[in-house]
Amino acid sequence: MKFFLDTANINEIKEAVALGLIDGITTNPSLVAREKRDFKGLMKEITEIVDGPISAEVVATDEEGMFTEGMDLSKIHENIVVKVPMTPDGLKATRRFVNEGVRVNVTLVFSAAQALLAAKAGASYCSPFIGRLDDIAQVGMDLIQQIVTIYTNYAFQTEILVASIRNPVHIIEAAQLGADVATMPFSVIQKLFKHPLTDAGLAKFLSDWEQSGKL
Ligand code: G3P
Repeated sequence: MKFFLDTANINEIKEAVALGLIDGITTNPSLVAREKRDFKGLMKEITEIVDGPISAEVVATDEEGMFTEGMDLSKIHENIVVKVPMTPDGLKATRRFVNEGVRVNVTLVFSAAQALLAAKAGASYCSPFIGRLDDIAQVGMDLIQQIVTIYTNYAFQTEILVASIRNPVHIIEAAQLGADVATMPFSVIQKLFKHPLTDAGLAKFLSDWEQSGKL
């Protein structure tokens, strides 16, 4: 399973990259807005830190506007993946990006039907938002299971990029289902390391070592 970091924050990206676990980055307009700086400059800086797919999202909502914005973003670096919303215009733009050799991440996917459409449009990544489904009392992981089945049935090349991840259990369950990518906030990566028995075990090893007179 590939791990992407879901942030536009340079400090978080540098810290996560130093862990050696990051295969790519996803951003969205909300995450970019938090950084209060020039969008394209920020994306360029991210491409200089991370050697992997970096999703940059368009904010136009019409096909032509999305296409123009996305082509412009794609010129920042070959690793830029244009992120478009799961709408009819988004999928029309997706088909055009694919014809231009530009990779697309279709975002805001909340149903299996939408995931099927994203794959048929030729998206490189489909981003189902599981945390937001959990928030409204639907089991987000059920959607991942459905998409895995559908994509396997038809050998779609579109990768399932599990998004809106809120905790380590989301990652474990998505991995058990065979999802291709999990994109997560830095706080969730930190939680993946944690286990009280690791902390207690290490403390005991070190205190035994101290008491031995360090041999
Ligand atoms: O980048 C898309 C997604 O991961 C957003 O997550 O936590 O805002 O639902 P969240």
